[in-house]
Amino acid sequence: MKILFVCLGNICRSPMAEAIFQHKIEEFGWENKVETDSAGTAAYHIGERPDHRTLQVLESNNIFTSHRARQVSANDDEEFDHIIAMDSSNQADLKQKFRTTNILMMRDYDEGHAGAAVPDPYYGDLSDFEEVYQILDRSIDAFIQREIKPFFHAS
Ligand code: 4NP
Repeated sequence: MKILFVCLGNICRSPMAEAIFQHKIEEFGWENKVETDSAGTAAYHIGERPDHRTLQVLESNNIFTSHRARQVSANDDEEFDHIIAMDSSNQADLKQKFRTTNILMMRDYDEGHAGAAVPDPYYGDLSDFEEVYQILDRSIDAFIQREIKPFFHAS
């Protein structure tokens, strides 16, 4: 089972999502069954470590990541079982790139916020990154309950 999280730059939202998801998967003991990665639709930050504010918010929750930014690549849609976009602009870019309609939206798993964006915190401050953390924490819990747990219980 392979899950890819996608945002624009792959330095703020999607590496945070990947790290939170990986942390929860380890808590379930599924780390040998589930793989995760993150990528950006844009090329601006290829090779860079996550934004220092993403790292700060993760570390304050005892979550660590070794990710370096990469751009979405042409075969990611064959490689991954689920691709999850942070906002509708990421989703539109992915649909164009892959000619597939099967791109999930992160906040479709955030009860009462279907269709909403995980807000881009890049031009904001630390409190914006903390808000993104809370959104992702809730949404990823629900994603695991709805998409990952049933998969293992059925197989
Ligand atoms: P992300 O945030 O898509 O959550 O990684 C951004 C990072 C960089 C830029 C925009 C958004 N940028 O314009 O460089």
